[in-house]
Amino acid sequence: MAGPPTYVLECPTVRERYPTHHYRTARPRPLDFPGDALPIPDMATDPNSRRQFLAFLAGSPLLAAAGLDTDWLNTLTGSRGDALLDAADRVATAGTHAVLQPPLIANAADALDVFDFEAVARQNIPVAHWGYLMTGTDDDGTIAANRAGFDRWTLKPRRLIDVSRVDGSVSLFGARYPSPIVVNPLGSQKAFHKDGEIATAKAARAKDHLMVLSTVATTSIEDVIAARSGPVWFQLYHQSDWSVTKQMVQRVERAGAPAIAFTVDLLGGSNRETMIREARRDTRDCKKCHLGGAPLPGVSGRVDDRDNRRKPNLVGYEKLPPQLERGTPTWEFVDRLKQATGMKVLLKGIVTEEDAALAVEHGVDGLFVSNHGGRAENSRRATIVSLPEVVKGTGGRIPVICDGGFRRGTDVFKAMALGATSVGIGRPYIWGLGAFGQEGVEAVLAIMRREFELTMKQSGATTLSQISARHIAPA
Ligand code: GLV
Repeated sequence: MAGPPTYVLECPTVRERYPTHHYRTARPRPLDFPGDALPIPDMATDPNSRRQFLAFLAGSPLLAAAGLDTDWLNTLTGSRGDALLDAADRVATAGTHAVLQPPLIANAADALDVFDFEAVARQNIPVAHWGYLMTGTDDDGTIAANRAGFDRWTLKPRRLIDVSRVDGSVSLFGARYPSPIVVNPLGSQKAFHKDGEIATAKAARAKDHLMVLSTVATTSIEDVIAARSGPVWFQLYHQSDWSVTKQMVQRVERAGAPAIAFTVDLLGGSNRETMIREARRDTRDCKKCHLGGAPLPGVSGRVDDRDNRRKPNLVGYEKLPPQLERGTPTWEFVDRLKQATGMKVLLKGIVTEEDAALAVEHGVDGLFVSNHGGRAENSRRATIVSLPEVVKGTGGRIPVICDGGFRRGTDVFKAMALGATSVGIGRPYIWGLGAFGQEGVEAVLAIMRREFELTMKQSGATTLSQISARHIAPA
């Protein structure tokens, strides 16, 4: 099926410094102060010096000149601030490097971890699009919770096991992949790089990873399957008219997708403040690309079709007698979906034992434990915390894929130890895409796989089935 013309990112890239946000928990950057040449205490090596530094700042004319309120600084420098600062120190120093702001990498091959791509992508991606990528809900607290959840678990490596060969391969519905890391659906990829989903699909092909395409992708399912040269799963947002949703599902099946993942975590809506704030900072003429209103993909829990010129999976359907949905989907919708297709039907966004058990009752074929990368409700509950109860609810009868904040091989390992079949990544590969296109996506996949396999070796587990709850312990 021919889609609309391919969208090319035509707006000029905004190259501006982007302030540190609380969603960026993994490697904080030092703040930029208008007095770089002043004698600033060494906060990285001396915890007391942070207080001295705050006291210095509170008394500094720089703050007043910048129109900033010094009350909160005085609180922090007083005794009440100690507990706060200690907590902040613990968060700020947990797992971060001594050098907090490494230079930007010039080549994908120079990256040491996935965060190296984040810094480059942030420079390359227009600020409104960056806001769309990085947003959570409300204060973005669930993004931070997803990351912090991994620290609730520690590793318990076993020794003296022959780990010279390690096999991290996984089988999903009969297809085998060398790594359990899934390229999760993430919409509008041409907003991050002109090659968009095609670059991602080619990278998934080169590294042989399962890819799941978003309903709100800027490339058609047909073109992505061709670029992946192999099956790609489809993430489904329903439309207000069942006859259109059904045609979409049938089209995806005809295109060769073996599975759909119906997203159920946005049905109540989603309050994306960071996205809106960052869009306001974008000074480009957005009407060139976004006629008919600012796009809010996924926010309403179904496809926003005000402007789908660049969303080829949303166009080309016959005008059949409408069958409008009454209300938002319930388990009845899941039954209908199952009846409408021969594909495997997974639910994406399940976080409780009760819903996992209901999903099995309704014949669902698999689950994604997901809070939409912290962009659904602001639950502040990490998916790694929800994972064990979801696995329990399934009784081990269907595969469980966990996503939400996976950045390190150790994160993947912990999820596997808690019963995940696979894990999904989103933002990290988009950082790779925004930084270096296909090459960047490939490098992100390679780094995460390498880190995971290293953790397997270090832990004395040479296959996924050997990874067990005995390899981890609560922190
Ligand atoms: C789409 O899936 C979104 O989260 O915006």
